[in-house]
Amino acid sequence: MTVHRYGYTLADAERIGAAIGAALQPGDVVALEGDLGAGKTTLARAMLKARGLAGEAPSPTFAIVQPYAPPEVDLAIAHVDLYRIEDESELIELGLDDYLVDGALLIEWPERLGTGGWPDTLTLTISGSGDARVLTASLPPAWEARWPLR
Ligand SMILES: Nc1ncnc2c1ncn2[C@@H]1O[C@H](COP(=O)(O)OP(=O)(O)O)[C@@H](O)[C@H]1O
Ligand SMILES: [Mg+2]
Repeated sequence: MTVHRYGYTLADAERIGAAIGAALQPGDVVALEGDLGAGKTTLARAMLKARGLAGEAPSPTFAIVQPYAPPEVDLAIAHVDLYRIEDESELIELGLDDYLVDGALLIEWPERLGTGGWPDTLTLTISGSGDARVLTASLPPAWEARWPLR
């Protein structure tokens, strides 16, 4: 597990999200950690845009799972926000594993997965507020060779 840390602005978020989004492959799980308003959805939007999504992706806070599939994107991606999940038992019906067969998962509030989750998850943790945000990327082995940022 390698850890990288970057201070970033809102303008950088577009570039950082785009670079990570372009590196996504089927089967990938990206966990987006950070408080309310940290910038999780902002990064997910930039990833989706990099895969061809036109317009701004809505926050999946109320839908919980917002799936995207070709041709609107060039890689199937399910954008997930588990904030409203109160118990691990509610996760089963979301069927998140199914999306990994040919696509990727971007998961906000991955803490709600509890003991569930996937071993090769790329974890992106955002801290800070205002213009002083910090992104901490924890890379599993599967991401070491293709991590797109310095
Ligand atoms: N790196 C950043 N620097 C400054 N503002 C940011 C940055 N990233 C996100 N924001 C702003 O923070 C607010 C909340 O972002 P959002 O992505 O919705 O947070 P979350 O999904 O973590 O709740 C938005 O107004 C967004 O424009
Ligand atoms: Mg959000």
